[in-house]
Amino acid sequence: MILTGPPGAGKGSQAPKIVNKLTIPQLSTGDMLRAAVANKTEVGMKAKAAMDSGALVSDDIVIGIISDRIREIDCGWGFILDGFPRNVAQTKALDGMLAKNGEKVNSVVSLEIPDEKLEDRICGRWIHKPSGRSFHATYEPSMPKSLKAKPKGTKADSTNMFDDETGEPLVQRSDDTPTALKNRLEKFHSETVPVLTHYEPLGIVSHVDASGSKSAVWAQIDPAIGNKAV
Ligand code: AP5
Repeated sequence: MILTGPPGAGKGSQAPKIVNKLTIPQLSTGDMLRAAVANKTEVGMKAKAAMDSGALVSDDIVIGIISDRIREIDCGWGFILDGFPRNVAQTKALDGMLAKNGEKVNSVVSLEIPDEKLEDRICGRWIHKPSGRSFHATYEPSMPKSLKAKPKGTKADSTNMFDDETGEPLVQRSDDTPTALKNRLEKFHSETVPVLTHYEPLGIVSHVDASGSKSAVWAQIDPAIGNKAV
């Protein structure tokens, strides 16, 4: 299945619940690329500048990453694609890869939210890099305990943002800036929305209002996915 939506729509927040329900792995091209950047691999070196500015990484890189990953044993019963495909060329490549084994995309979950709600979500996000856990600087339910313990209204900074479980420092993503977000949103509308147009005629797209609380969003995804992905 494909999980799609603009930056900050909640793909990373909702994916673990889908993984739990369907017991198939989540393949996030964003996470894979960030790991490559952190490890300074050849792919990481090529991807870094595009990612920092909010541009898309080249199709050959991401298609290569996904085509290798889906051959691994844990993907044999299906998988959740988070952040891929992001344009029509990637969509066609995916359909082609799956068709070689008589497979196809069974379900597309589209998280939908107005652009103007996303700057707060993205620019307030802090991450625990080793686990991928995501926190927020101003939304109470997602605030780390370390900031909640400070007087109300304390501004988030590196002295008060720590992971709830390990106590390790939280960091902000280099592309979580208003300028990069603007580019990411432009790319989403011009290149990623056509992916939905491609799958819509197959009757497999579920449209989810992603502007409510995380539990309100999950309450729509849960019945929509059923057992479609397996
Ligand atoms: P990627 O990592 O895929 O980023 P993205 O699509 O921009 O999405 P995000 O991870 O920013 O948002 P999310 O929807 O997961 O939101 P989250 O749940 O964290 O891609 C990054 C870059 O990699 C791209 O720009 C590109 O350069 C490159 N790339 C990746 N894939 C590629 C591809 N296929 N082709 C080419 N290039 C590619 O939520 C955000 C915040 O909001 C969190 O703090 C969270 O706690 C909070 N939040 C979430 N939901 C709610 C809610 N319902 N209520 C309140 N707060 C909420």
